[in-house]
Amino acid sequence: MKIEDIKTIGVVGCGSMGSGIIQVAAQAGYQVRVVDTTDAAWGRADKTIRTSLDRMLKKEKITEQEMKDTLDRISFSTDVNTLTAVQYIIEAVFEDIDVKKELFTRLEPVCGADTIIATNTSSLSITEMASLVKNPANFVGMHFFNPVPMMKLVEVIPAIQTTPETTALALDLAKSFGKTPITCKDTPGFVLNRLLVPYMMDAIRLLQDGVASAEDIDTAMKLGAGMPMGPLELQDFAGVDIGYYVGEIFFNHTKEARFAPPSLLRNMVKAGFNGRKAGKGFYVYSADKK
Ligand code: 3HC
Repeated sequence: MKIEDIKTIGVVGCGSMGSGIIQVAAQAGYQVRVVDTTDAAWGRADKTIRTSLDRMLKKEKITEQEMKDTLDRISFSTDVNTLTAVQYIIEAVFEDIDVKKELFTRLEPVCGADTIIATNTSSLSITEMASLVKNPANFVGMHFFNPVPMMKLVEVIPAIQTTPETTALALDLAKSFGKTPITCKDTPGFVLNRLLVPYMMDAIRLLQDGVASAEDIDTAMKLGAGMPMGPLELQDFAGVDIGYYVGEIFFNHTKEARFAPPSLLRNMVKAGFNGRKAGKGFYVYSADKK
């Protein structure tokens, strides 16, 4: 299959990553069929996509017609059978191997011999996931970054079963979305999170040890290292619970202390201080304002 053959993309899972992937695929001109388990999930994703496109419209990055055309290309269903005859499916469901496994079983009768399945996982092994699908040669990792409409990077990660053709197609697809892909081996964290997660954990350790306040840690990295957000702001933005979960997975895989979540992070998750979405994390939020 060549990139020109792909007209329709299936996206399974429309949380914050899924909704961003749906948006960039539709903006790139693909028909996008979305599948999730509830209409409520789609309600939230639809709102996120409209807000993001509205922001682009107000900044005159897109026209009203482009916004309408983008939204018209997207359709939603709770029925996985709507993905029959879709050439390329990207899954962005919950980061749990059992949830992924159940999805792949449901996708099996829907997928043809050529169908590519890409996973947006940030923490699970691509090779292990490939071993769960009917055609592992057509399975690949495509790791997007939050917020997907703004972040230019996509990590493309072949499993050891993936063919070079499947990898090349994933690279071409990412480019057609306006992204810059890189390729990397299937290892915990790939490239970005292997560097970013220990950095975030270190920032939390600095706060835990009372070395500096949250504001001063963030200011240091913004004004001294040119980061768009400080590490603690970024953890609130990405989800404190997600940071904890990802740190645990990487630590359990590698046994490297640099990935280990500090006790402050664990306690924050236990207290429900899960960041911006919870109204409280390293900072307190009201109507999404810090
Ligand atoms: N949709 C559309 N436009 C958006 C947007 C969105 N979701 N988010 C931000 N924008 C636009 C704004 O409208 C603004 O446009 P302008 O330049 O024309 O004025 C521009 O982006 C900048 O936004 P803001 O002024 O509101 O704020 P910032 O300058 O801080 O930018 C940010 C926001 C792009 C999110 C920036 O802070 C940033 O890059 N932060 C770091 C994000 C990051 O590190 N992401 C990676 C996380 S790790 C990850 O994803 C791993 C995975 O495994 C989950």
